[in-house]
Amino acid sequence: MLYSLIKPALFNLDPEKAHDITMAGLAKVSALPIATRQLERLNGACVPDLPVTCMGIDFRHPVGLAAGLDKDAKAFPAFSALGFSGVEMGTVTPKPQPGNDKPRMFRLVEDQAIINRMGFNSGGVDAFLANLTKTNRTVVAGINVGKNATTPIEDAATDYVNAMQRVYSQADYITANISSPNTKSLRDLQNASFLDTLLLNIKNAQLKCEKVHKRYVPIALKVAPDLDADEIETIAELVMSHQFDAVIATNTTIERPDSLQSQHKAEAGGLSGAPVKDMATDCIREFYRHLQGRVQIIGVGGIKNADDAWEKMLAGADYVQIYSQFIYQGPAMIKDIVAGLQQKVQASGHADLESALAALRTSK
Ligand SMILES: Cc1cc2nc3c(=O)[nH]c(=O)nc-3n(C[C@H](O)[C@H](O)[C@H](O)COP(=O)(O)O)c2cc1C
Repeated sequence: MLYSLIKPALFNLDPEKAHDITMAGLAKVSALPIATRQLERLNGACVPDLPVTCMGIDFRHPVGLAAGLDKDAKAFPAFSALGFSGVEMGTVTPKPQPGNDKPRMFRLVEDQAIINRMGFNSGGVDAFLANLTKTNRTVVAGINVGKNATTPIEDAATDYVNAMQRVYSQADYITANISSPNTKSLRDLQNASFLDTLLLNIKNAQLKCEKVHKRYVPIALKVAPDLDADEIETIAELVMSHQFDAVIATNTTIERPDSLQSQHKAEAGGLSGAPVKDMATDCIREFYRHLQGRVQIIGVGGIKNADDAWEKMLAGADYVQIYSQFIYQGPAMIKDIVAGLQQKVQASGHADLESALAALRTSK
């Protein structure tokens, strides 16, 4: 309701300016418990419960915020109050870095899409933790980590391990993001030659941190939608052999479908929103064919309503995240998606979401 009033003003501004203004407002709300409670009353409290367990973590319902909106952990309480059951912050890099030159974010309104080439603009892990440790946490906190642009790709593992060790104590789960198209060569990490060593290093670091902190923090790997069937099979084998806890499918695409209408369609970067929806769902389905629940899947890409979320879940996702459509629709969509999923579970005749999905996936 409120979002429909402010959206025209925000959409009149340059997209990154609109993002910065919104984030500044949400950071202010986050610093004021009374404002956070009010936001929770107006939004989060209206989102029904639909419990789900993913990576061993209990979520109140299956809809979370995807990485990239709160890169520096400035507004975790506000995003929680808006109704997400999990907020994935980051991508955070070990050292601060400015990211790519502006402009680097474009709205493709006709296509219900966004193109971004932010390039991991990040205040770095120290600033990230200074912001996060101040906050009260009521929903699941995911922390998405990446490598600095200046770190050679051969040394990428050092950056992932450093960032992971630093954020471990504050995270409910950690995501290794190897799929942004906007950091040179990053996606090469998805190739078997790099990935085996990278996952080994990350897993070893996780187990060491578990001993130090006496707490197991699950690890997810975030992948691109631009993988072919062989690449998916290789990655699926590796996440199983290195005992990762989840695959997040997917990040943005470097494809430009012919259907795109917007004047910005030729901008370089990753495309997200409606045009990536089916690519992401196909990728989830292919991962699920190999993983069969041994490693869980978080589905993301182009979700705009409960039908889209359900489609991703039937393809194999246990939990979903949203980003682009949240910009287009605002926070009311969280309640709409969860309520819609609740109706689908009821219509299936099963007692809860997990048993409905287990039955419907096998009957397909
Ligand atoms: C402006 C923008 C910045 C993003 N930054 C990140 C990021 O830092 N790390 C990451 O893992 N994904 C990032 N993403 C990708 C999203 O998390 C998500 O995977 C992708 O946009 C597909 O979901 P959607 O279609 O719902 O937006 C970004 C997306 C956008 C639009």
